[in-house]
Amino acid sequence: MELGIDLGTANTVVSHGRRGILYDEPTVMLLRSGRSRRERVLAVGHEAADLLGRTPAGLAAVRPLDDGVVTDLETARTYLRSVLHKAGRRGWSPGVRAVIGVPVGSTALEHRAVLEAAEEAGIRPVTALDESIAGAIGCGIDPLERRVHMVVDVGGGTAETAAFCFGGVLAHRTSKLAGNEMTLAVARYVREQHQLHVGELEAEALKIRAGDELDGPLVVQGRDAVTGRPRLATVQPAEVADAVRPVTDDIVRTLSACLDDLAPQAIADVMAEGVLLFGGSSQVPGFSTELERSLGLPVKLAEEPLTCVAEGAARALRNRRLLAAYGRS
Ligand SMILES: Nc1ncnc2c1ncn2[C@@H]1O[C@H](COP(=O)(O)OP(=O)(O)OP(=O)(O)O)[C@@H](O)[C@H]1O
Ligand SMILES: [Mg+2]
Repeated sequence: MELGIDLGTANTVVSHGRRGILYDEPTVMLLRSGRSRRERVLAVGHEAADLLGRTPAGLAAVRPLDDGVVTDLETARTYLRSVLHKAGRRGWSPGVRAVIGVPVGSTALEHRAVLEAAEEAGIRPVTALDESIAGAIGCGIDPLERRVHMVVDVGGGTAETAAFCFGGVLAHRTSKLAGNEMTLAVARYVREQHQLHVGELEAEALKIRAGDELDGPLVVQGRDAVTGRPRLATVQPAEVADAVRPVTDDIVRTLSACLDDLAPQAIADVMAEGVLLFGGSSQVPGFSTELERSLGLPVKLAEEPLTCVAEGAARALRNRRLLAAYGRS
């Protein structure tokens, strides 16, 4: 069995090269207190995410990743094992090979932690690959070419950009601000401007709906900041756009600095081809236009912005030259 795994801060995607996407769910795990960690897992993915903000006593909804990196080995291992079970595997036998995405800005120690967690979960051999490279491959780019390519990945925990060619990375930048901070900015805005406390899930849904329904007002439910009673508020999509703008501006500024490290010839390559944009938060209204303006380069959105990293990781697994050049172990 050969798998491409995108262990993202917000979503986990598992792709099987030939059979396509086997698993695509939020990176959340529901744990019961007491007993061993393995016996304590009650649910992963959607079933666990449904209980965020409404977890009964004795249970905890846990997000195993922090800004795209593993902070607790045991949690990550338990989580990966549960994901693979849900993705359709029963029992553990040697022979699950995988490529797993890691942030391009992660340290050797951080990607060693992911690899260790994966190995302990029964995935062997496992190779780490920069998510930027994996996403590019998933969109049909060949990173072994002599021409320079540049990608921008805006996820839940981090936003990253990388320029690469001929088996190597030329320059990269990481912003620790991404989708999660956009959600927090929306929640803060609604609290300050509409005197309404909204949960993380409501704020995220409001952020995403604002992009889909650009003209209509959006109704959101929360708790009145003064009386503490439940009530509704009406929010305009333009207000949501204003609320997230400081975060997106900051991300664009951080990522644009990547151009400072590129030689004119490299920039000419990217100019001719355009910058590839993916990750869930790349869909925030106005983001690609703002990025284009700041970089002074054409930007194009990936067709599958949420799954191209896992698809590319699965594809890389079957290309020895690619893994030899870009794989990290
Ligand atoms: N249509 C949309 N508009 C705005 N934001 C969106 C949209 N769809 C998803 N998002 C946001 O995208 C983020 C998830 O994207 P993605 O799955 O690429 O992140 P991830 O890979 O899990 O995180 P990371 O790469 O940072 O570890 C979430 O913050 C989510 O709110
Ligand atoms: Mg990601």
